[in-house]
Amino acid sequence: MLRRERRSVVATEAIGPYTLLRVERGTVDPGRPGQFFMLEAPGRLLPRPMSLALAPPGELAFLIDPIGPGTRALCTLAPGDEVGVLGPLGNGFDLDVERPLLVGGGIGVAPLPYLSERLGGPPAVLGFRTSWHAEAAELVPNAEVVLEPTYVTEAMPAGRDVLACGPEPMLEAVRRLAPTAQLAWEAPMACGYGACYGCVVEIDGELKRLCMEGPVLAAA
Ligand SMILES: Cc1cc2nc3c(=O)[nH]c(=O)nc-3n(C[C@H](O)[C@H](O)[C@H](O)COP(=O)(O)OP(=O)(O)OC[C@H]3O[C@@H](n4cnc5c(N)ncnc54)[C@H](O)[C@@H]3O)c2cc1C
Ligand code: FES
Repeated sequence: MLRRERRSVVATEAIGPYTLLRVERGTVDPGRPGQFFMLEAPGRLLPRPMSLALAPPGELAFLIDPIGPGTRALCTLAPGDEVGVLGPLGNGFDLDVERPLLVGGGIGVAPLPYLSERLGGPPAVLGFRTSWHAEAAELVPNAEVVLEPTYVTEAMPAGRDVLACGPEPMLEAVRRLAPTAQLAWEAPMACGYGACYGCVVEIDGELKRLCMEGPVLAAA
C-alpha cells in the first residue's frame, strides 16, 4: 500500500546545473531503476515526478534540473527541511539483460546511476549540451561523454541491450537504431498513480497512462 511519506532532506549537492537532493529513506522502498517518485515541491499544489537517481544506504537521491517553478522550489530545499514523497511508482527497467548499454541525454541521466549500480557498472554513453551539464556524468561509472553537436546515437556501439532515458527526439533516434531498446519516456504527471489521466500518451495506437504502463516501455 503506497503512502505519501514526509522525509527530511539530508543534503543537497550542486552537480553542474543540476541539484542532487538527498532525503532520508526511512521505510520507503527505493523500487526498481526507472521507477519514479512524486515529490511535493514547496509552495506548489501538485507534486512533481522524479526518477530515483541513487539509493545509498538510508537515503533516496534525486537529480533535479531546475527548469520551472516546481523543480526550482525542490532545488531550494535545505538539510532538515521536510519533503513529501510518494513511490516507487510506474514500471522500471527490466534488469534481465545480457549486454547492457546505458544511454542518456541531459537530465535523462537521472535514473542511470541507480540503474548502473544494479547492473554492475555496464558501459554508458551520455550526451550533454555543455561540459557544465556533463558534470552529471560523474554519477555514472564507465561512461563515454559526448557534447553537442555530437549526439549519443553517433557513439552507440551496435549489438547491445540498450536502456535509455532522455528527451523525446533522442529516444526516437535510439529506437530507430536499437529496436529492442528499453526507453524511459516523460509526460506531464499530476498524480503518478493512474487517477488523473494527465499523462495519457498513444502507445501502439492506443491511449494509455504513462504513469501506469511506463515510464519505461519497449521500443518496438
Ligand atoms: C517519470 C518521470 C520522471 C522524471 N524524472 C526527472 C528527474 O529525475 N529529474 C528531473 O529534473 N526531471 C524529471 N522529470 C521531469 C520533471 O518532472 C519536470 O521537469 C517537472 O515536473 C517540471 O516542473 P516545473 O514546475 O519545474 O516546471 P513546469 O513549469 O511544470 O514545466 C516547465 C516546462 O517543462 C514542460 N514539462 C513539464 N513536465 C514535463 C514532463 N514531465 N515531460 C515533458 N515536459 C514537461 C512544461 O510543459 C514546460 O514547458 C521526470 C518526469 C517524469 C514524467
Ligand atoms: S499522472 Fe495521473 S494518471 Fe498518470
